[in-house]
Amino acid sequence: MTTNLQDRGAWGSRFGFIMAAAGSAIGLGNIWRFPYVTGQNGGAIFVLFYLFFILLIGLPVMIGEFSIGRFSRKNPVGAFKLIAPRSGWKYLGLLGILTGISILSFYAVIAGYTVGYIFKAVRGDFAQLGSAEAASSAYEAFSASPELSIGLLFAFLAITGFIVIRGVRGGIEKMAKLLMPILFLLLIILAIRSVTLEGAGKGLEFYLKPDFSKVTSSSILTALGQALFSLSLGMGTMITYGSYLSKNEDIGKSAIIVCFFDTLVAILAGFVILPALFALGADPEAGPRLIFVVIPSLLNNMPGGAVFGIGFFTLLSIAALTSTVSLLEVPVAYFVDEWKWNRKKSVIISIGITFMLGIPSALAGGAVGFLTSLPKLGIDFLSFMSIVFNDFSLSIGACMVALFAAYRWGIKNTVGEIEREGVKFTYKAIWTFLIRFITPILIAAVFIQVIYQTFFS
Ligand code: TRP
Repeated sequence: MTTNLQDRGAWGSRFGFIMAAAGSAIGLGNIWRFPYVTGQNGGAIFVLFYLFFILLIGLPVMIGEFSIGRFSRKNPVGAFKLIAPRSGWKYLGLLGILTGISILSFYAVIAGYTVGYIFKAVRGDFAQLGSAEAASSAYEAFSASPELSIGLLFAFLAITGFIVIRGVRGGIEKMAKLLMPILFLLLIILAIRSVTLEGAGKGLEFYLKPDFSKVTSSSILTALGQALFSLSLGMGTMITYGSYLSKNEDIGKSAIIVCFFDTLVAILAGFVILPALFALGADPEAGPRLIFVVIPSLLNNMPGGAVFGIGFFTLLSIAALTSTVSLLEVPVAYFVDEWKWNRKKSVIISIGITFMLGIPSALAGGAVGFLTSLPKLGIDFLSFMSIVFNDFSLSIGACMVALFAAYRWGIKNTVGEIEREGVKFTYKAIWTFLIRFITPILIAAVFIQVIYQTFFS
Protein backbone atom coordinates (compact mmCIF):
# COMPACT_ATOMS: atom_id res chain seq x y z
CA MET A 1 0.00 0.00 0.00
CA THR A 2 2.61 2.51 0.95
CA THR A 3 4.95 3.93 -1.57
CA ASN A 4 8.00 4.54 0.48
CA LEU A 5 11.38 4.05 -1.02
CA GLN A 6 11.70 0.43 -0.12
CA ASP A 7 8.45 -0.65 -1.75
CA ARG A 8 9.09 1.34 -4.85
CA GLY A 9 12.59 -0.06 -5.14
CA ALA A 10 15.86 1.70 -5.85
CA TRP A 11 18.96 1.11 -7.92
CA GLY A 12 21.70 -0.98 -6.36
CA SER A 13 24.59 1.18 -7.50
CA ARG A 14 25.52 4.01 -9.81
CA PHE A 15 26.78 1.54 -12.39
CA GLY A 16 23.51 -0.33 -12.14
CA PHE A 17 21.51 2.82 -12.73
CA ILE A 18 23.54 3.88 -15.73
CA MET A 19 23.30 0.41 -17.22
CA ALA A 20 19.56 0.31 -16.66
CA ALA A 21 19.04 3.78 -18.17
CA ALA A 22 21.33 2.87 -21.07
CA GLY A 23 19.48 -0.43 -21.36
CA SER A 24 16.23 1.49 -21.66
CA ALA A 25 17.68 3.83 -24.25
CA ILE A 26 19.52 1.22 -26.29
CA GLY A 27 17.10 -1.05 -28.05
CA LEU A 28 15.19 -1.53 -31.26
CA GLY A 29 15.24 2.25 -31.65
CA ASN A 30 18.95 2.18 -32.32
CA ILE A 31 19.34 -1.05 -34.22
CA TRP A 32 16.02 -1.57 -35.98
CA ARG A 33 14.61 1.95 -36.36
CA PHE A 34 17.62 4.22 -36.79
CA PRO A 35 18.99 2.51 -39.94
CA TYR A 36 15.63 2.37 -41.70
CA VAL A 37 14.57 5.95 -40.98
CA THR A 38 18.04 7.06 -42.09
CA GLY A 39 17.47 5.11 -45.30
CA GLN A 40 14.06 6.68 -45.83
CA ASN A 41 15.17 10.21 -45.10
CA GLY A 42 18.19 10.80 -47.24
CA GLY A 43 21.12 9.37 -45.26
CA ALA A 44 23.87 11.61 -43.91
CA ILE A 45 21.83 14.79 -43.75
CA PHE A 46 19.29 13.03 -41.57
CA VAL A 47 22.06 11.76 -39.31
CA LEU A 48 23.29 15.32 -38.93
CA PHE A 49 19.88 16.55 -37.79
CA TYR A 50 19.62 13.59 -35.45
CA LEU A 51 22.96 14.38 -33.76
CA PHE A 52 22.05 18.04 -33.54
CA PHE A 53 18.77 17.18 -31.77
CA ILE A 54 20.49 14.79 -29.36
CA LEU A 55 22.80 17.56 -28.19
CA LEU A 56 20.41 20.48 -28.10
CA ILE A 57 17.19 18.71 -27.13
CA GLY A 58 17.80 15.16 -25.92
CA LEU A 59 20.59 15.74 -23.43
CA PRO A 60 19.02 18.80 -21.73
CA VAL A 61 15.62 17.09 -21.50
CA MET A 62 17.18 13.94 -20.05
CA ILE A 63 18.83 15.98 -17.30
CA GLY A 64 15.42 17.60 -16.64
CA GLU A 65 13.61 14.25 -16.47
CA PHE A 66 16.16 12.69 -14.12
CA SER A 67 15.90 15.67 -11.76
CA ILE A 68 12.11 15.74 -11.74
CA GLY A 69 12.05 12.01 -11.03
CA ARG A 70 14.64 12.02 -8.31
CA PHE A 71 13.18 15.03 -6.55
CA SER A 72 9.63 13.71 -6.53
CA ARG A 73 10.40 9.98 -6.23
CA LYS A 74 7.28 9.37 -8.25
CA ASN A 75 5.80 8.25 -11.54
CA PRO A 76 5.25 11.07 -14.09
CA VAL A 77 1.69 11.87 -12.98
CA GLY A 78 2.63 11.88 -9.30
CA ALA A 79 5.73 13.94 -10.00
CA PHE A 80 3.84 16.73 -11.75
CA LYS A 81 1.12 16.61 -9.10
CA LEU A 82 3.70 16.97 -6.36
CA ILE A 83 5.64 19.84 -7.89
CA ALA A 84 2.69 21.67 -9.44
CA PRO A 85 -0.37 20.74 -7.34
CA ARG A 86 -3.86 21.42 -8.66
CA SER A 87 -2.63 22.36 -12.10
CA GLY A 88 -3.00 20.94 -15.58
CA TRP A 89 0.53 19.52 -15.53
CA LYS A 90 -0.72 16.13 -14.39
CA TYR A 91 -2.26 15.69 -17.85
CA LEU A 92 1.26 15.79 -19.25
CA GLY A 93 1.98 12.83 -17.01
CA LEU A 94 -1.15 11.07 -18.22
CA LEU A 95 -0.15 11.66 -21.83
CA GLY A 96 3.13 9.94 -20.91
CA ILE A 97 1.31 6.90 -19.51
CA LEU A 98 -0.84 6.65 -22.63
CA THR A 99 2.18 7.09 -24.89
CA GLY A 100 4.13 4.45 -22.97
CA ILE A 101 1.41 1.86 -23.41
CA SER A 102 0.97 2.77 -27.07
CA ILE A 103 4.67 2.62 -27.90
CA LEU A 104 4.99 -0.66 -26.04
CA SER A 105 2.08 -2.09 -28.04
CA PHE A 106 3.87 -1.88 -31.38
CA TYR A 107 7.41 -2.12 -30.03
CA ALA A 108 6.63 -5.55 -28.64
CA VAL A 109 5.42 -6.67 -32.07
CA ILE A 110 8.84 -5.98 -33.59
CA ALA A 111 10.53 -7.41 -30.50
CA GLY A 112 8.47 -10.55 -31.11
CA TYR A 113 9.78 -10.69 -34.68
CA THR A 114 13.36 -10.56 -33.41
CA VAL A 115 12.58 -13.55 -31.21
CA GLY A 116 11.08 -15.30 -34.23
CA TYR A 117 14.30 -14.62 -36.10
CA ILE A 118 16.33 -16.36 -33.40
CA PHE A 119 14.41 -19.52 -34.26
CA LYS A 120 14.87 -18.93 -37.95
CA ALA A 121 18.62 -18.58 -37.38
CA VAL A 122 18.74 -21.75 -35.29
CA ARG A 123 16.85 -23.67 -37.96
CA GLY A 124 19.41 -22.54 -40.53
CA ASP A 125 16.87 -20.62 -42.60
CA PHE A 126 19.36 -17.86 -43.34
CA ALA A 127 21.34 -20.19 -45.60
CA GLN A 128 18.68 -19.65 -48.27
CA LEU A 129 18.52 -15.89 -47.81
CA GLY A 130 21.64 -14.80 -49.63
CA SER A 131 19.89 -12.23 -51.80
CA ALA A 132 17.88 -9.25 -50.67
CA GLU A 133 14.83 -10.49 -52.63
CA ALA A 134 14.88 -13.89 -50.98
CA ALA A 135 15.27 -12.33 -47.53
CA SER A 136 12.48 -9.89 -48.25
CA SER A 137 9.96 -12.52 -49.30
CA ALA A 138 10.90 -14.69 -46.33
CA TYR A 139 10.15 -11.74 -44.06
CA GLU A 140 6.82 -11.16 -45.77
CA ALA A 141 5.80 -14.77 -45.32
CA PHE A 142 6.80 -14.60 -41.67
CA SER A 143 5.16 -11.29 -40.74
CA ALA A 144 1.96 -12.15 -42.59
CA SER A 145 1.20 -15.03 -40.23
CA PRO A 146 -1.35 -13.85 -37.67
CA GLU A 147 -0.67 -16.76 -35.29
CA LEU A 148 3.06 -16.11 -35.23
CA SER A 149 2.82 -12.32 -34.93
CA ILE A 150 0.21 -12.37 -32.18
CA GLY A 151 1.78 -15.33 -30.39
CA LEU A 152 5.20 -13.69 -30.32
CA LEU A 153 3.69 -10.37 -29.22
CA PHE A 154 2.01 -12.13 -26.34
CA ALA A 155 5.14 -14.05 -25.40
CA PHE A 156 7.27 -10.93 -25.40
CA LEU A 157 4.83 -8.98 -23.26
CA ALA A 158 4.58 -11.89 -20.84
CA ILE A 159 8.37 -12.01 -20.37
CA THR A 160 8.46 -8.24 -19.92
CA GLY A 161 5.71 -8.47 -17.32
CA PHE A 162 7.48 -11.24 -15.49
CA ILE A 163 10.63 -9.14 -15.12
CA VAL A 164 8.76 -6.02 -14.06
CA ILE A 165 6.89 -7.97 -11.38
CA ARG A 166 10.24 -8.90 -9.86
CA GLY A 167 11.02 -5.20 -9.53
CA VAL A 168 13.60 -2.77 -10.75
CA ARG A 169 16.62 -4.09 -8.99
CA GLY A 170 16.29 -7.81 -9.29
CA GLY A 171 15.17 -7.89 -12.86
CA ILE A 172 16.22 -4.96 -14.94
CA GLU A 173 19.56 -4.12 -13.52
CA LYS A 174 21.19 -7.52 -13.55
CA MET A 175 20.33 -8.27 -17.11
CA ALA A 176 21.46 -4.94 -18.50
CA LYS A 177 24.83 -5.09 -16.80
CA LEU A 178 25.77 -8.36 -18.33
CA LEU A 179 24.53 -8.22 -21.86
CA MET A 180 24.92 -4.72 -23.21
CA PRO A 181 28.71 -5.02 -23.55
CA ILE A 182 28.39 -8.25 -25.55
CA LEU A 183 25.91 -6.70 -27.95
CA PHE A 184 28.31 -3.85 -28.50
CA LEU A 185 31.13 -6.18 -29.44
CA LEU A 186 28.97 -8.11 -31.85
CA LEU A 187 27.91 -4.91 -33.61
CA ILE A 188 31.55 -3.96 -34.11
CA ILE A 189 32.29 -7.31 -35.76
CA LEU A 190 29.27 -7.03 -38.03
CA ALA A 191 30.14 -3.44 -38.94
CA ILE A 192 33.63 -4.51 -40.00
CA ARG A 193 32.15 -7.22 -42.21
CA SER A 194 29.64 -4.83 -43.68
CA VAL A 195 32.01 -2.02 -44.64
CA THR A 196 34.43 -4.46 -46.24
CA LEU A 197 31.81 -5.97 -48.56
CA GLU A 198 32.28 -5.29 -52.21
CA GLY A 199 30.14 -2.33 -53.18
CA ALA A 200 29.87 -1.00 -49.63
CA GLY A 201 31.38 2.32 -50.72
CA LYS A 202 28.10 3.65 -52.06
CA GLY A 203 26.44 2.93 -48.73
CA LEU A 204 29.20 4.71 -46.83
CA GLU A 205 28.80 7.72 -49.05
CA PHE A 206 25.05 7.73 -48.47
CA TYR A 207 25.61 7.49 -44.72
CA LEU A 208 28.43 9.99 -44.37
CA LYS A 209 28.17 12.58 -47.14
CA PRO A 210 25.28 14.97 -46.50
CA ASP A 211 23.10 15.86 -49.45
CA PHE A 212 21.28 19.03 -48.46
CA SER A 213 18.76 18.72 -51.26
CA LYS A 214 17.22 15.79 -49.37
CA VAL A 215 15.99 17.85 -46.41
CA THR A 216 12.22 17.85 -46.08
CA SER A 217 10.00 19.09 -43.29
CA SER A 218 8.84 15.60 -42.43
CA SER A 219 12.41 14.29 -42.32
CA ILE A 220 13.31 16.95 -39.74
CA LEU A 221 10.40 15.91 -37.53
CA THR A 222 11.39 12.27 -37.99
CA ALA A 223 14.94 13.11 -36.87
CA LEU A 224 13.59 14.78 -33.74
CA GLY A 225 11.23 11.89 -33.05
CA GLN A 226 14.07 9.43 -33.56
CA ALA A 227 16.38 11.30 -31.17
CA LEU A 228 13.74 11.34 -28.43
CA PHE A 229 12.60 7.77 -29.03
CA SER A 230 16.12 6.47 -28.98
CA LEU A 231 16.88 8.22 -25.69
CA SER A 232 13.55 7.12 -24.12
CA LEU A 233 12.51 10.74 -23.57
CA GLY A 234 9.28 12.68 -23.74
CA MET A 235 6.96 10.33 -21.87
CA GLY A 236 8.39 9.99 -18.41
CA THR A 237 10.52 6.84 -18.63
CA MET A 238 13.52 8.78 -17.43
CA ILE A 239 11.39 10.52 -14.77
CA THR A 240 10.44 7.08 -13.49
CA TYR A 241 14.00 5.74 -13.67
CA GLY A 242 15.26 8.92 -12.01
CA SER A 243 12.81 8.29 -9.18
CA TYR A 244 14.79 5.20 -8.18
CA LEU A 245 18.06 7.14 -8.21
CA SER A 246 19.91 7.89 -5.00
CA LYS A 247 20.48 11.45 -3.94
CA ASN A 248 24.22 11.60 -4.28
CA GLU A 249 24.47 10.55 -7.93
CA ASP A 250 25.72 12.96 -10.53
CA ILE A 251 22.72 13.50 -12.81
CA GLY A 252 24.58 15.55 -15.42
CA LYS A 253 27.34 13.02 -15.82
CA SER A 254 24.95 10.07 -15.92
CA ALA A 255 22.91 11.74 -18.67
CA ILE A 256 26.01 12.41 -20.75
CA ILE A 257 27.14 8.79 -20.45
CA VAL A 258 23.71 7.44 -21.42
CA CYS A 259 23.40 9.80 -24.41
CA PHE A 260 26.90 8.98 -25.55
CA PHE A 261 26.48 5.21 -25.57
CA ASP A 262 23.02 5.37 -27.06
CA THR A 263 24.25 7.49 -29.95
CA LEU A 264 27.31 5.32 -30.41
CA VAL A 265 25.18 2.18 -30.76
CA ALA A 266 22.86 3.84 -33.27
CA ILE A 267 25.77 5.10 -35.39
CA LEU A 268 27.36 1.67 -35.20
CA ALA A 269 24.11 0.01 -36.31
CA GLY A 270 24.14 2.37 -39.29
CA PHE A 271 27.60 1.06 -40.19
CA VAL A 272 26.26 -2.49 -40.01
CA ILE A 273 23.13 -1.96 -42.09
CA LEU A 274 23.70 0.80 -44.65
CA PRO A 275 26.92 -0.33 -46.38
CA ALA A 276 25.57 -3.90 -46.56
CA LEU A 277 22.28 -2.62 -47.90
CA PHE A 278 23.95 -0.98 -50.88
CA ALA A 279 26.35 -3.85 -51.39
CA LEU A 280 23.43 -6.28 -51.54
CA GLY A 281 21.34 -4.07 -53.75
CA ALA A 282 18.45 -3.83 -51.28
CA ASP A 283 16.08 -0.88 -51.19
CA PRO A 284 17.16 1.88 -48.74
CA GLU A 285 13.53 2.85 -48.31
CA ALA A 286 12.41 -0.64 -47.32
CA GLY A 287 11.15 0.65 -43.96
CA PRO A 288 10.56 -1.49 -40.86
CA ARG A 289 11.61 -4.71 -42.57
CA LEU A 290 15.11 -3.41 -43.32
CA ILE A 291 17.18 -5.25 -40.68
CA PHE A 292 15.27 -8.48 -41.26
CA VAL A 293 16.30 -8.30 -44.89
CA VAL A 294 19.86 -7.04 -44.56
CA ILE A 295 21.11 -9.03 -41.57
CA PRO A 296 20.34 -12.53 -42.90
CA SER A 297 21.91 -11.70 -46.25
CA LEU A 298 24.93 -10.09 -44.62
CA LEU A 299 25.48 -13.16 -42.46
CA ASN A 300 25.29 -15.31 -45.52
CA ASN A 301 28.40 -13.56 -46.75
CA MET A 302 30.29 -14.32 -43.60
CA PRO A 303 32.18 -17.29 -42.21
CA GLY A 304 30.40 -18.50 -39.11
CA GLY A 305 27.36 -16.51 -40.17
CA ALA A 306 24.88 -18.94 -38.64
CA VAL A 307 26.39 -18.54 -35.19
CA PHE A 308 26.51 -14.78 -35.53
CA GLY A 309 22.88 -14.83 -36.62
CA ILE A 310 21.77 -16.62 -33.49
CA GLY A 311 23.92 -14.28 -31.39
CA PHE A 312 22.68 -11.15 -33.11
CA PHE A 313 18.98 -11.82 -32.81
CA THR A 314 19.32 -13.11 -29.26
CA LEU A 315 21.15 -10.01 -28.12
CA LEU A 316 18.78 -7.76 -30.04
CA SER A 317 15.83 -9.42 -28.30
CA ILE A 318 17.48 -8.80 -24.96
CA ALA A 319 18.24 -5.17 -25.85
CA ALA A 320 14.57 -4.86 -26.76
CA LEU A 321 13.61 -6.45 -23.46
CA THR A 322 15.53 -3.92 -21.36
CA SER A 323 13.59 -1.26 -23.29
CA THR A 324 10.13 -2.85 -23.04
CA VAL A 325 10.74 -3.27 -19.32
CA SER A 326 11.33 0.48 -19.04
CA LEU A 327 8.23 1.25 -21.09
CA LEU A 328 6.07 -0.99 -18.91
CA GLU A 329 7.60 0.41 -15.74
CA VAL A 330 5.92 3.77 -16.40
CA PRO A 331 2.24 2.71 -16.26
CA VAL A 332 3.11 0.23 -13.51
CA ALA A 333 4.73 2.91 -11.33
CA TYR A 334 1.67 5.04 -12.01
CA PHE A 335 -0.77 2.36 -10.85
CA VAL A 336 1.39 1.50 -7.83
CA ASP A 337 1.82 5.14 -6.72
CA GLU A 338 -1.50 6.70 -7.67
CA TRP A 339 -4.02 3.89 -7.55
CA LYS A 340 -2.29 2.00 -4.74
CA TRP A 341 -2.44 -1.27 -6.63
CA ASN A 342 0.23 -3.83 -5.92
CA ARG A 343 2.92 -4.45 -8.48
CA LYS A 344 1.53 -7.70 -9.76
CA LYS A 345 -1.95 -6.39 -10.41
CA SER A 346 -0.51 -3.25 -12.03
CA VAL A 347 1.64 -5.34 -14.34
CA ILE A 348 -1.11 -7.75 -15.36
CA ILE A 349 -3.60 -5.01 -16.16
CA SER A 350 -1.06 -2.89 -18.06
CA ILE A 351 0.04 -5.89 -20.09
CA GLY A 352 -3.58 -6.79 -20.85
CA ILE A 353 -4.35 -3.35 -22.25
CA THR A 354 -1.08 -3.27 -24.19
CA PHE A 355 -1.73 -6.66 -25.73
CA MET A 356 -5.17 -5.68 -27.01
CA LEU A 357 -3.80 -2.47 -28.43
CA GLY A 358 -0.90 -4.37 -30.01
CA ILE A 359 -3.07 -6.80 -31.99
CA PRO A 360 -3.75 -4.42 -34.91
CA SER A 361 -0.01 -3.70 -35.16
CA ALA A 362 0.70 -7.43 -35.13
CA LEU A 363 -1.74 -7.86 -38.01
CA ALA A 364 -0.24 -4.99 -40.00
CA GLY A 365 2.61 -7.04 -41.46
CA GLY A 366 0.47 -8.59 -44.17
CA ALA A 367 -2.05 -10.61 -42.17
CA VAL A 368 -4.92 -8.14 -42.67
CA GLY A 369 -4.90 -6.09 -45.84
CA PHE A 370 -6.69 -3.09 -44.40
CA LEU A 371 -4.18 -2.78 -41.53
CA THR A 372 -1.20 -3.45 -43.78
CA SER A 373 -2.09 -0.47 -45.93
CA LEU A 374 -4.45 1.93 -44.20
CA PRO A 375 -7.04 3.56 -46.47
CA LYS A 376 -6.14 7.14 -47.48
CA LEU A 377 -2.81 7.07 -45.58
CA GLY A 378 -1.24 4.22 -47.51
CA ILE A 379 0.96 3.18 -44.58
CA ASP A 380 0.60 0.21 -42.27
CA PHE A 381 -0.95 0.48 -38.82
CA LEU A 382 2.34 -0.07 -36.99
CA SER A 383 4.03 2.78 -38.87
CA PHE A 384 0.99 4.93 -38.19
CA MET A 385 1.25 4.30 -34.44
CA SER A 386 4.94 5.08 -34.58
CA ILE A 387 4.34 8.42 -36.30
CA VAL A 388 1.58 9.47 -33.88
CA PHE A 389 3.33 8.41 -30.70
CA ASN A 390 7.04 8.72 -31.48
CA ASP A 391 7.12 11.72 -33.68
CA PHE A 392 4.25 13.76 -32.30
CA SER A 393 3.59 12.70 -28.74
CA LEU A 394 7.23 12.43 -27.66
CA SER A 395 8.08 15.81 -29.20
CA ILE A 396 5.20 17.48 -27.42
CA GLY A 397 6.13 15.71 -24.19
CA ALA A 398 9.79 16.74 -24.42
CA CYS A 399 8.87 20.34 -25.15
CA MET A 400 6.57 20.46 -22.14
CA VAL A 401 9.18 18.86 -19.85
CA ALA A 402 11.68 21.53 -20.91
CA LEU A 403 9.14 24.29 -20.23
CA PHE A 404 8.24 22.70 -16.93
CA ALA A 405 11.85 22.50 -15.73
CA ALA A 406 12.75 25.96 -16.96
CA TYR A 407 9.64 27.94 -16.04
CA ARG A 408 7.25 26.08 -13.78
CA TRP A 409 9.51 24.24 -11.38
CA GLY A 410 12.19 26.74 -12.30
CA ILE A 411 15.90 26.73 -12.95
CA LYS A 412 16.71 27.35 -9.30
CA ASN A 413 14.85 24.27 -8.08
CA THR A 414 15.99 22.02 -10.87
CA VAL A 415 19.62 22.99 -10.46
CA GLY A 416 19.17 22.70 -6.70
CA GLU A 417 18.13 19.07 -7.14
CA ILE A 418 21.08 18.35 -9.42
CA GLU A 419 23.55 19.97 -7.01
CA ARG A 420 22.12 18.30 -3.95
CA GLU A 421 24.69 16.75 -1.61
CA GLY A 422 27.37 18.98 -3.06
CA VAL A 423 27.54 17.43 -6.54
CA LYS A 424 29.06 19.89 -8.95
CA PHE A 425 26.95 20.56 -12.06
CA THR A 426 29.71 21.30 -14.52
CA TYR A 427 27.49 22.36 -17.39
CA LYS A 428 25.10 24.46 -15.37
CA ALA A 429 25.39 27.59 -17.49
CA ILE A 430 25.04 25.78 -20.81
CA TRP A 431 22.19 23.62 -19.59
CA THR A 432 20.30 26.62 -18.22
CA PHE A 433 20.64 28.48 -21.48
CA LEU A 434 19.57 25.48 -23.57
CA ILE A 435 16.57 24.46 -21.50
CA ARG A 436 15.22 28.00 -21.29
CA PHE A 437 15.76 29.28 -24.78
CA ILE A 438 16.93 26.66 -27.22
CA THR A 439 15.28 23.31 -26.47
CA PRO A 440 11.61 24.36 -26.34
CA ILE A 441 11.92 26.85 -29.17
CA LEU A 442 13.67 24.37 -31.41
CA ILE A 443 10.94 21.78 -30.87
CA ALA A 444 8.27 24.38 -31.50
CA ALA A 445 10.07 25.46 -34.67
CA VAL A 446 10.12 21.89 -35.97
CA PHE A 447 6.37 21.68 -35.40
CA ILE A 448 5.57 25.01 -36.95
CA GLN A 449 7.44 24.17 -40.11
CA VAL A 450 5.72 20.78 -40.37
CA ILE A 451 2.29 22.37 -39.96
CA TYR A 452 3.19 25.08 -42.43
CA GLN A 453 4.45 22.56 -44.99
CA THR A 454 1.43 20.34 -44.55
CA PHE A 455 -1.28 22.94 -44.75
CA PHE A 456 0.08 25.98 -46.54
CA SER A 457 2.24 24.77 -49.34
N1 TRP B 1 14.67 3.95 -26.32
C1 TRP B 1 14.24 2.64 -26.63
C2 TRP B 1 14.87 2.22 -27.94
O1 TRP B 1 15.59 2.96 -28.54
C3 TRP B 1 12.74 2.51 -26.64
C4 TRP B 1 12.11 3.09 -25.43
C5 TRP B 1 12.16 2.62 -24.17
C6 TRP B 1 11.40 4.30 -25.37
N2 TRP B 1 11.53 3.46 -23.33
C7 TRP B 1 11.04 4.50 -24.04
C8 TRP B 1 11.04 5.21 -26.33
C9 TRP B 1 10.36 5.63 -23.68
C10 TRP B 1 10.36 6.33 -25.96
C11 TRP B 1 10.03 6.55 -24.65
O2 TRP B 1 14.66 1.14 -28.39
